[in-house]
Amino acid sequence: MNIPLSKVYVDQEIKDRVWEVIDSGQYILGSQSKGFEKEFAQFIGTKHAVLTSSGTSAIFLCLKALGVGMGDGVLVPSLTAFPTVEPIFHVGACPIFVDIEDTFTMDQKHIEEILKKPSPRPEIKKIKGMIPVHLYGHPVDMDAILDLANRYGLFVLEDCCQAHGARYKEKRVGSMGIAGCFSFYPSKNLTVFGDGGMVVTDDEALARKCRMLRDHGREEKYKHELVGYNLRFNEIQAAVGRIQLSKLEAFNEARRNIAHWYEEGLQGLPVITPKPRDWADPVFHLYVIQTEKREELTAFLKERGIQTGIHYPIPNHRQPAVEKALGPQPKLERTEEVVGKILSLPIYPELEREKVDYVCATIKEFFKDKL
Ligand SMILES: Cc1ncc(COP(=O)(O)O)c(C=O)c1O
Repeated sequence: MNIPLSKVYVDQEIKDRVWEVIDSGQYILGSQSKGFEKEFAQFIGTKHAVLTSSGTSAIFLCLKALGVGMGDGVLVPSLTAFPTVEPIFHVGACPIFVDIEDTFTMDQKHIEEILKKPSPRPEIKKIKGMIPVHLYGHPVDMDAILDLANRYGLFVLEDCCQAHGARYKEKRVGSMGIAGCFSFYPSKNLTVFGDGGMVVTDDEALARKCRMLRDHGREEKYKHELVGYNLRFNEIQAAVGRIQLSKLEAFNEARRNIAHWYEEGLQGLPVITPKPRDWADPVFHLYVIQTEKREELTAFLKERGIQTGIHYPIPNHRQPAVEKALGPQPKLERTEEVVGKILSLPIYPELEREKVDYVCATIKEFFKDKL
């Protein structure tokens, strides 16, 4: 048995479409990209969607377009992919790291504690906003986040890079903040055979600015109104994304079934399984358990053909690059506790029941003489 952690979906329709686009002679931001943007906005329930070269560039473009820069602080969970944090540095602002609650997402009580205190660093003149991350496909408690944002006058930029299609109380993630950012990196719930990203928003001015900034600051070919970037998307990958989007609901349903099989199969074992909140409709980008015996269990599973991952072994407030830029950061109790225990098990839409059963049986075998 050989079970990867994740797997990209490929079929003949997608391969045929790629050839059609190659033959079309149109390669950058053409009709496929426009179609993908329109369909994705419709799916999320926002007025606008803007394709970008990656999830990281989607976050970067939003921060730029929102005017975030020097002297601004941005609240962000420490337990997330480093690219949630990087764009904050790239616009000249300063991340303020927040602890997590038991869904692994931003703890609103900790946010409020930070907001009630004086500025956490002299260079931060104003805390401008926050980037809640719908980590592992589980939505953040957005009512609490939006309430804080209203009371303190902050923007909310949703990092949805792991949560395509997840819902918070019937609303799709990405449709609740000022904007939402998605990644189409190969392991994600929606993929494009390479890098890619999307900004979704109801704010027309923000969408327009993101569009301009991603393409050298222009709307007309040789008239540059802003100094922008090249963070564009391409036609071949947009065509792939459109087909993958048409299957996303089915992919997410398959992931939820797999999570259910794991939940059943791991019952009674000394591991903590994910416990989605009753208001959440998660999409299980990752299936993350917690165990005190992570390193031993990882090796045991690897020997038996099962790939696992750790998302993430080093929290961002302890990353060398962050400490180099900002110095040592305050302790985050819960984040630091879980990073030593979290283990991601294989999950992807085509993962069959017998393989999930095999993973569960192997974990059971590992704990047999340890109980
Ligand atoms: C939570 C989160 N934010 C941001 C990103 C960045 O996306 P990308 O790799 O497409 O730049 C990722 C993906 O790696 C992610 O998982």
